[in-house]
Amino acid sequence: MLQVRNVTRLFGQKAAVDNVSFDVAKSGFVGIIGRSGAGKSTFLRLMNRLTDATSGEISFEDQNVLALQGADKRAWQSQCAMIFQQFNLVPRMDVASNVLHGILNRRSTVSTMFNFWPDDDVLKALAILDRLGIAEQATKRAEALSGGQQQRVAIARALMQDPKVILADEPIASLDPMNAQIVMDSLRRIHDEDGRMVIANLHTLDTARRYCDRVIGMRDGRIVFDGTPDQLTTGVARDIYGADASFSESATSTSIDALPSDADADYARRMLV
Ligand SMILES: Nc1ncnc2c1ncn2[C@@H]1O[C@H](COP(=O)(O)OP(=O)(O)O)[C@@H](O)[C@H]1O
Ligand SMILES: [Mg+2]
Repeated sequence: MLQVRNVTRLFGQKAAVDNVSFDVAKSGFVGIIGRSGAGKSTFLRLMNRLTDATSGEISFEDQNVLALQGADKRAWQSQCAMIFQQFNLVPRMDVASNVLHGILNRRSTVSTMFNFWPDDDVLKALAILDRLGIAEQATKRAEALSGGQQQRVAIARALMQDPKVILADEPIASLDPMNAQIVMDSLRRIHDEDGRMVIANLHTLDTARRYCDRVIGMRDGRIVFDGTPDQLTTGVARDIYGADASFSESATSTSIDALPSDADADYARRMLV
């Protein structure tokens, strides 16, 4: 159970996150939507302790997240994996090593420097890549992969940590519709099969409607909507995005028939049948 209570983050006079409160049951799949500058990224960074809150409390399974320091803070960061829009892989390093870097904080510097990984860890990394449909890419450099494949490597790296929570900051904003679908399907499947909580900042409404059990709308740092996809009507969306804003209803919709027949498309079909 996650409890967020009156969390505020000021930058100078401006509240990037303004008195935000909500609870998430053990394994919710929550989408956060809102226009650029609404405070979505700042909120995820607060949760992961990449930045500090000005005030408020976050508790996860009775742990006071915002008060953690040192080793406890690092332990939380490994339980609470982040996925970014730009993947944040090491481009010239092979895929399997990128995945193994998910457990870097458990390894000694020397063994990491020489890329010595215990067989069990290597097998685990390969099994995770296989689960995500990209085991055959394990020895390639990350930079040689398509964006959609790189984001799946980033998800694999997150899973290597065996996290309780996955925080995804616009995970599909750099991807074409087909790869966006594959990545969202992967996140949803991980949520459904493993019971991990997922909180994803999403830039399109239809993705939030399609994949999330619950959607939180932010505007100017505040929560202005918290409900189910059904309750997220076009009128509500106007409140969230502002009457003057255009918002994308269908940027990620795609037809299966239109999928090209490469490895990604095969993976997409397997996921969808
Ligand atoms: N490091 C920072 N320093 C100053 N202002 C920041 C910083 N990070 C974010 N902000 C401001 O906080 C607000 C929320 O930003 P952000 O969380 O990135 O929104 P979103 O992810 O919804 O686009 C914006 O006004 C942004 O300019
Ligand atoms: Mg952002």
